Amino acid sequence: MKYQLSPSILSADFGRLYEDTVKVEKGGADMLHIDVMDGHFVPNITIGPVVLEGLAGKTKMPFDVHLMIENPDKYIDKFVFDNTEYISVHQEACVHLHRTVQYIKSLGVKAGVAINPATSLRTLDEILEYIDLVIVMTVNPGFGGQSFIESGLRKITELRDMIEKRGLNVDIEVDGGVKLTNASSVLDAGANILVAGSAVFSKPDPAEECRKFAEIFREMK
Ligand code: DX5
Ligand code: ZN
Repeated sequence: MKYQLSPSILSADFGRLYEDTVKVEKGGADMLHIDVMDGHFVPNITIGPVVLEGLAGKTKMPFDVHLMIENPDKYIDKFVFDNTEYISVHQEACVHLHRTVQYIKSLGVKAGVAINPATSLRTLDEILEYIDLVIVMTVNPGFGGQSFIESGLRKITELRDMIEKRGLNVDIEVDGGVKLTNASSVLDAGANILVAGSAVFSKPDPAEECRKFAEIFREMK
């Protein structure tokens, strides 16, 4: 299994976004997790396309875009840059999820679907074979620095089982409350991409924190 770290710039210093990006890139992080919030789907407003545009011109880090917005179809194309690897939408925000997924793929980007802690895996039954990534939310989306919701572990295991039984190639990303202390249990449960916001950027040396996550990846059997 290929394990990847996607540090969330939500916890970065927004006055030094580029410098903070360089730090995690030097620490060997695989992607940059971009939390886009609209103040409607979630009770917070964060990053828009213009911010990413500024960053895209300066870094080659792949973007892992997490849209926590209503009507994502209206804005998806604005987040497509050379760097954009994944765009994920919330299952709860999409009336025509299959159409939205096809639209993301038509733009040459991998498609992800995120589910909130109270959303059942059953809601993915009919879409799983069409997507590249599931984001299992282990906090209620909206803010960095919240505590990991433990029932997420069972959900990750069940999802990995669903993916394997169907012989699919879908990444499982876990988002919310991931720390060095619970990373190995999240990976053991079946995840292969970890989002880490406060665990990386709220520390004095974000690059060093990335290296510590990489060490945990290496220790996995
Ligand atoms: C929460 C966001 C997360 C957040 C994670 O709504 O989707 O990506 O930045 O932050 P931590 O790792 O601090 O829980
Ligand atoms: Zn996120």
